[in-house]
Amino acid sequence: MDLRPIRTAHHRPPTVDRTPICDAPFVAMEFDAFGDVQVCCANALYPIGNVGEQSLREIWSGPRAAAMRAALSEGDMSLGCSVCRYRLTYGHGDLARDYYNNFPVSGGDPDWPFSLQFSLHNTCNLACVMCGADRSSRIRTQRSSLPPLPHAYGETFFEQIQPFLEHAGAVDFSGGEPFLVREHHRIWDLLIELDDRPLCSLTTNGTIWNERVEHVLDHLDNHISVSIDGMTPETLESIRVGASFDTVMRNIDRFLTYTRERGTILTMSWSLMATNWWELGMAARFAEERGIQLKVQTVIEPEFGVQRLPTAELRVVVETMEAESTHLVDELDLNRDMWVREVGRLRQELELRSGSGPRARCMEPPDPGHPQHLADMMLTGRPVLRDADLEAAFSEARTDLERWCDGSPIERFVADERGRLVELDAPLLLAGAAPDGVVDLPDLFRTLETAHGGSLWIGEQFDEGDRLVQMIWMGRPMRDKVGLVIRMISVTTEDGVVTLAAINDRLAPPSDEVAAEVPVTLLDRPAASVDQPRNAR
Ligand SMILES: C[S@@+](CC[C@H](N)C(=O)[O-])C[C@H]1O[C@@H](n2cnc3c(N)ncnc32)[C@H](O)[C@@H]1O
Ligand code: SF4
Repeated sequence: MDLRPIRTAHHRPPTVDRTPICDAPFVAMEFDAFGDVQVCCANALYPIGNVGEQSLREIWSGPRAAAMRAALSEGDMSLGCSVCRYRLTYGHGDLARDYYNNFPVSGGDPDWPFSLQFSLHNTCNLACVMCGADRSSRIRTQRSSLPPLPHAYGETFFEQIQPFLEHAGAVDFSGGEPFLVREHHRIWDLLIELDDRPLCSLTTNGTIWNERVEHVLDHLDNHISVSIDGMTPETLESIRVGASFDTVMRNIDRFLTYTRERGTILTMSWSLMATNWWELGMAARFAEERGIQLKVQTVIEPEFGVQRLPTAELRVVVETMEAESTHLVDELDLNRDMWVREVGRLRQELELRSGSGPRARCMEPPDPGHPQHLADMMLTGRPVLRDADLEAAFSEARTDLERWCDGSPIERFVADERGRLVELDAPLLLAGAAPDGVVDLPDLFRTLETAHGGSLWIGEQFDEGDRLVQMIWMGRPMRDKVGLVIRMISVTTEDGVVTLAAINDRLAPPSDEVAAEVPVTLLDRPAASVDQPRNAR
């Protein structure tokens, strides 16, 4: 396996046909509960606009959408596409771009998006352990002790969305629990009025069945995905807190009858975790017997993701699943690839851990070791650049950062071979903190956490040979959409490691107040703490 990272545009050999590496910004608009518009579900760190600040037309034809189209046309995945870049490099997890690349592209500067995805509010009746306050109103108030999320979509939005619905080819609803989000019912009513309707799909927790649900099902041909993370009452109800196993199973039967009658597709969605991996095989059999496709979601949070287990435990998981494979693969057809892929990914994770050399990182949740790790990566073995090579590297880094940071200034710091700072010209990074007290690189990263408030995540880290690209995110311990993103590009010169850095503050700032963490009880695992509060926008 070739483990060299997929490189950004300026490092890649020129492409012949300039085909975009991903079609998302040419085809999709995704609306979240804050009114932010993204081009892709996996790209929360580079929203293209907000419905409270711009019209839908301004957003779709605006500078950030244009920047994303230009970047992906050149194979540059630096504008928030870290997850796909990481997965393309390591083959670990499904690629969001595969979804968007299914849709027709109407041109380099398309008039309308083909795909619209709505998560217009976080109203939800459940508090699933791995979910967050941005997604669930119940988590927001009960677990995170935050005030309810305001409704971001007003009358202007519903007037503007009409022509977008008329031109759309695919419309998808998530949430929150989509059937409980009042804004979604307004969109469904608009869709029902259309003569020529787009393909409709939704992802539900499967707990709700009432007249409003039947109205949506009766009047639109919906493709349905039901999230189900356990095949026993004990597992499902401990993960999907507030759900009843019997109700979800009964509703799966109803959705199956419905989709068979309407000629649409029912899928089941499984968030693979340390607390349910042993029931994935049962779920695959259950789905197979009913002709349902089972889709697996990667959960990155360290408390939950099975791939984050300590190596000894992960080895047991992989060996148990591989033993199960010997019988199971022969029983599966529709779900065989899913099973083989998931087991293969976990095996690959084990192999990556035992490999030598630095590993790329992506969406690494807060860890006390991160400041030292970031510094070590900056200092390790890149070639010393001189003269024209150095000029070119700086110019390239500036171009990359300027495209990414929306015009905020590019700052600079230099460290010697031991990581001691010999130059620090970064007032925005320091946000008022005194530079005198910051003596070395780990110190700088710890200061950023204090100065900006929030915990340090490694959003992405790619060693590109003669330069290191790192993106850090000062956010909440749970990956709610909050915080400040800092991108750094480091090269080694005769003077030391020179880093150019820029801030993008498009996300909501982290809250100053820190609430007491409320533990979540997990099956067969120690209590884990979950998210802390955030500011409403
Ligand atoms: C946020 S939910 C919204 C729709 C609906 N409430 C549901 O649960 O299906 C969408 C999907 O995200 C999944 N999900 C929740 N937390 C997750 C996490 N931390 N990582 C990955 N997927 C997650 C859910 O299981 C669900 O399939
Ligand atoms: S049902 Fe969906 S939105 Fe609600 S808490 Fe669970 S995963 Fe989150």
